[in-house]
Amino acid sequence: MTVKSINAVPQDKDRVVIFDTTLRDGEQCPGATMTFEEKMEVADFLDQMGVDIIEAGFPIASDGDFEAVSAIAGRVKSATVAGLARAIDKDIDRAGEAVRSAKRGRIHTFVSTSPIHLAHQMHKTEEEVLAIITGTVNRARNLVEDVEWSAMDATRTPVEYLVRCVDAAIRAGATTINLPDTVGYATPEEYKAMFVAVRAAVADSDRAVFSAHCHDDLGLAVANSLAGVAGGARQIECTINGIGERAGNAALEEIVMAIKTRADALSFHTGIDTTKLTRASRLVSAVTNFPVQYNKAIVGRNAFAHESGIHQDGMLKHQLTYEIMTPESVGVGKTSLVMGKHSGRAAFRTKLKDLGYDLGDNQFEDAFTRFKALADRKKHVYDEDIEALVDEEIARMHDRTKVVALTVIAGTMGPQMATLTLDIEGEHTTVQSTGNGPVDATFNAIKQIMPHNGTLALYQVHAVTQGTDAQAEVSVRLEDDAGRVVTGRGADTDTLVASARAYVAAVNKLMVRREKVTRAQAAI
Ligand code: KIV
Ligand code: ZN
Repeated sequence: MTVKSINAVPQDKDRVVIFDTTLRDGEQCPGATMTFEEKMEVADFLDQMGVDIIEAGFPIASDGDFEAVSAIAGRVKSATVAGLARAIDKDIDRAGEAVRSAKRGRIHTFVSTSPIHLAHQMHKTEEEVLAIITGTVNRARNLVEDVEWSAMDATRTPVEYLVRCVDAAIRAGATTINLPDTVGYATPEEYKAMFVAVRAAVADSDRAVFSAHCHDDLGLAVANSLAGVAGGARQIECTINGIGERAGNAALEEIVMAIKTRADALSFHTGIDTTKLTRASRLVSAVTNFPVQYNKAIVGRNAFAHESGIHQDGMLKHQLTYEIMTPESVGVGKTSLVMGKHSGRAAFRTKLKDLGYDLGDNQFEDAFTRFKALADRKKHVYDEDIEALVDEEIARMHDRTKVVALTVIAGTMGPQMATLTLDIEGEHTTVQSTGNGPVDATFNAIKQIMPHNGTLALYQVHAVTQGTDAQAEVSVRLEDDAGRVVTGRGADTDTLVASARAYVAAVNKLMVRREKVTRAQAAI
């Protein structure tokens, strides 16, 4: 076959290409399953934010994944859309089919290269893997012009063999070469040295863009990604909030802000609109039901909060005393008292726009109804209240089962009793249940209507704002007997209602996840 030459290497040598894999590596992490609609929402936002490449999924994994990648390929306006494929012909063909309608489509194919993987997982020799690389990259290049090849477990692969693999991939037509730290094992010095050594030893290394892909098992994913760039990589693969396998992937927001804030030391740039980072974080947190830790760099709730007297004093005198970047630069506005029960639709719509939301008509009406109900119960409605409410609305919109009503008898004279009505695809069911405390009674009532085999792995409550009338945001994590983990989140001024919503959301996710796995098993 003839390999058409495309201009894979960007003209601007300091431009770092951002490859977001929230919808693939991120979605792979336990508990982060997204529905089809949620994936569309995330993809649209990543595209608007200036992400260069969106890895939309793993098309062969299930029909649902294939449909999501195809739909994203068809709707994304600027970004390249990538589909992942193992080094297997049917995977590559399916990925090619899924990205066919994209303005710019990419097949991302990978194979393990480390001795540990070759011996224990693949049972293949080095020569056999080299032949696989040539064959599969060739096949992918016959389907699309833009082919990324990844050396899985590159950081535990001897450099001499890695060089032969990269050489084979480039000869077969790969336009991007990804050298992942799959197991999160490398140190920054080692990771940089690997890129330097491979790029120096491969004859045609300048025909491809080199890419860093780091996992955070030792908390080094961002540092390693930046070290990869120092070693010559010009693409970084990362996820919003750093979600991903095990300890996660490198966090997109941290990479982008490190490059922007330390332009003096790093001298690179990306095409990301950083003012959208906070919104992206909230959106991904809402649809995956994965809370963002309070002290998370860039997007954590405390990332710009100054608590100690000395810091507050300094900040009042000059912002630069304790702030290396402004909250506005990542899209955090000043906390403001927003609206009350007299605010109308127009004001609410404007507020949502300011906060970065773009809701469809039905979603807007539901959010407005909930906002009015909240404003009736809560004296001051803050931006954070609206964000919690709308994020939950977005996450809940496609749930089959929703909480309609809950009454709980609690107090010292047990047993506590919950009366609960759920809406299951339009039909209302009401049950009563007792329990060891009001939360237990509420969860027992849900289990009566939605029987499942999940065990409660986490129940967490925190207040969205201050004050005794603050909304409670509740996270519930369930694990089923197959080890699948899902998280649900709910917000309300009533902690028990928030708990019920979070529990129902988690059970909804458990069911979607189970169906997805059953479909995937049937497809293989
Ligand atoms: O971590 C990894 O090696 C991956 C590959 C599929 C690129 O996610
Ligand atoms: Zn990975």
